[in-house]
Amino acid sequence: MIILGIETYCDETAAAVVRGVGNKIEVLSNVVSSQIEIHKKYGGVVPEVAAREHVLNILPVVNEALAKAKIQSPLPPFIKGGARIDAIAVTVGPGLITSLLVGVETAKTLAYAWRKPVIAINHIEGHIYANWLTPIRNDKCQMTNTKNKIKFPVLILTVSGGHTMLVLMSGHGKYKVLGETRDDAAGEAFDKAAMLLGLGYPGGPEIAAAAKIQSPQPPFIKGGISLPRPMIESGNFDFSFSGLKTALLYATQRDKNWKKKIPEYAHEFQQAVADVLVAKTVKAAKMLNCRTIMLSGGVAANVELRDQLEKEVKNKLTGAKLLIPKFKYCTDNAVMIATAGYFRARSKKFTNWPKLRVDCNLDLK
Ligand code: KG4
Ligand code: ZN
Repeated sequence: MIILGIETYCDETAAAVVRGVGNKIEVLSNVVSSQIEIHKKYGGVVPEVAAREHVLNILPVVNEALAKAKIQSPLPPFIKGGARIDAIAVTVGPGLITSLLVGVETAKTLAYAWRKPVIAINHIEGHIYANWLTPIRNDKCQMTNTKNKIKFPVLILTVSGGHTMLVLMSGHGKYKVLGETRDDAAGEAFDKAAMLLGLGYPGGPEIAAAAKIQSPQPPFIKGGISLPRPMIESGNFDFSFSGLKTALLYATQRDKNWKKKIPEYAHEFQQAVADVLVAKTVKAAKMLNCRTIMLSGGVAANVELRDQLEKEVKNKLTGAKLLIPKFKYCTDNAVMIATAGYFRARSKKFTNWPKLRVDCNLDLK
């Protein structure tokens, strides 16, 4: 089955084509047009600017994805004789409504013109399905990607600029949210902390790069920088990151020399976020006796988080498997949307295109 994926949740216009056979996904094309350079000067995404950019980018991006995958297309460059799309998967929420509308209206129009079914995808579900593109290693660490069979239940830590959640997935499309952030998402906290430290946007990669200068030598200085690990002992699976950002603000305000210690502050902030995320994930996996764990979302691109989670899973959850997406499938892309679409299409979960609706507060269910 060949699926076209379309993604316009926030500030990335993306389209991709995947071919699914059984549990295996082949990526035929992956096109992402990022608006980061445009939003950088505002220190964050300006929704109306993002929507206008999506309008300009969506058709060239979809065309490029179709052309790269050698899909028959009635649009320029008019490819004849190639494979055909079986269905169109599109992000319908949650996210910025004006951005989402561009992708959804494009998907509807193509579905009408091509007489193809559409599949409504939750953006967070898309992030989770990025893991179906990760080759599974067997216990001897050899790739066993021929079938890519993932055993349910799966525990997922999904962390991005818009959400932070621990999710229990009992089957394809079956989710139970165990806990989520009560205020800022982890990525949002990275972005705000970077702004506080005078670093660039998006903040996650900036903090990670600054922190790298400092590591590996924690703790840096005795009596040095120490930030809280919010809710680490809360006894539930919720998170909170806005207080951590405020703690960073107060710490820099108290420190006349903070500008000389940006790597130390960045390192401690990153470590505080990683400590909480890793501790809660391992605790949930133990409690629920979950043998497959996944990381997903833009913050999953954080090397320290990836390494530290891997280490803890190895040390504390003997025999458990950890899946982490390739870097390019952590941040927003349409391959993950097409992949989620493929698994929904297998269970015939289609939406009639006139009924397709954007829902910027869409729950994961
Ligand atoms: O998934 P994503 O592209 O968009 C949303 O769904 O929000 O995630 C973007 C977020 C941003 O907040 C960005 O700062 C964060 O992911 N991020 C990172 C890293 N790369 C991106 N956070 C920490 N470390 C990184 N290396
Ligand atoms: Zn995302």
